[in-house]
Amino acid sequence: MRELADKVAVVTGAASGIGRAMALRFAAEGMTLMVADVDYGGLAETAALAGDGKVLTQITDVSDASAVAHLANRCFGELGAVHVLCNNAGVYQGGHMWTRSEADFAWVLGVNLWGVLHGIHTFVPRMIEQDTEGHVVNTVSVAGLFAAPGSGAYTVSKHAALATSLALAQDLAAAGAKLRVTALCPGAVRTRIADSARVRPPGLLTTPSQDEVDSLDQVSRLAESGIEPSEVADLVVDAIREERFLVLTDPKYATRLRLQTETLLTGDLPSYQ
Ligand SMILES: NC(=O)c1ccc[n+]([C@@H]2O[C@H](COP(=O)([O-])OP(=O)(O)OC[C@H]3O[C@@H](n4cnc5c(N)ncnc54)[C@H](O)[C@@H]3O)[C@@H](O)[C@H]2O)c1
Repeated sequence: MRELADKVAVVTGAASGIGRAMALRFAAEGMTLMVADVDYGGLAETAALAGDGKVLTQITDVSDASAVAHLANRCFGELGAVHVLCNNAGVYQGGHMWTRSEADFAWVLGVNLWGVLHGIHTFVPRMIEQDTEGHVVNTVSVAGLFAAPGSGAYTVSKHAALATSLALAQDLAAAGAKLRVTALCPGAVRTRIADSARVRPPGLLTTPSQDEVDSLDQVSRLAESGIEPSEVADLVVDAIREERFLVLTDPKYATRLRLQTETLLTGDLPSYQ
């Protein structure tokens, strides 16, 4: 989709970080916006930063199918169409695979996988029916490509989000739909991702184990050393215009992906040191 002005974009997880940066970049392109998040204060700030254009806000827990259905109803009802859907909301949780509880997986998969699935299920049929050009951007991560130690729950959720993006893109192509898909796989980005526990539902709270605390420290340092969210937003707009499926934020990840494939084909376990 080359022309973005006057089109409609929906961004989940838009109260902070990458979601906010995408919303602001879309606003700068002259798009109408629906921004969604569980954090009302952050959403209001995003809307204020987006300036004079049309921006609607909707409190939405993406892990809740009925909340995402309500979001879609508002988008199509009040804005008439959706051209760009960004399933971006996400949370990080660290720790060894064997210390992660059912509540941990319920939270991380609920947001990072079910959030994307609910977005697809509620928006995509109506975007197809609209019969215009459109684009679905799923925020995955390099954790969807590699399984570095200490981030098992997150890695599982992001591998599933990448598989979801691939399956969606193949199905849309086979159906001859006018929609394209991007799997956004950033490395470290300077956001609040290491502080995801701030939005963890009380019913899924657990006491962090030491391995979880250590992983969070590491991810916090990584995020602080990362690129700016606005750089990611620029790559997303390019990907929409150029109909690019995979977006990496650094060429070193392409090298690592080739090396991983070669290592796996020898039967060995890849190392990410
Ligand atoms: N920051 C990084 O280094 C990095 C790298 C790769 C991928 N990502 C991915 O980028 C996406 C955005 O994260 P970020 O880095 O901007 O972090 P962030 O914490 O700054 O923003 C995430 C946003 O998601 C919202 N959110 C959390 N749970 C939600 C829910 N149930 N429903 C709706 N909104 C919810 C939060 O309130 C927050 O506004 C995530 O999918 C994350 O996994 C981040």
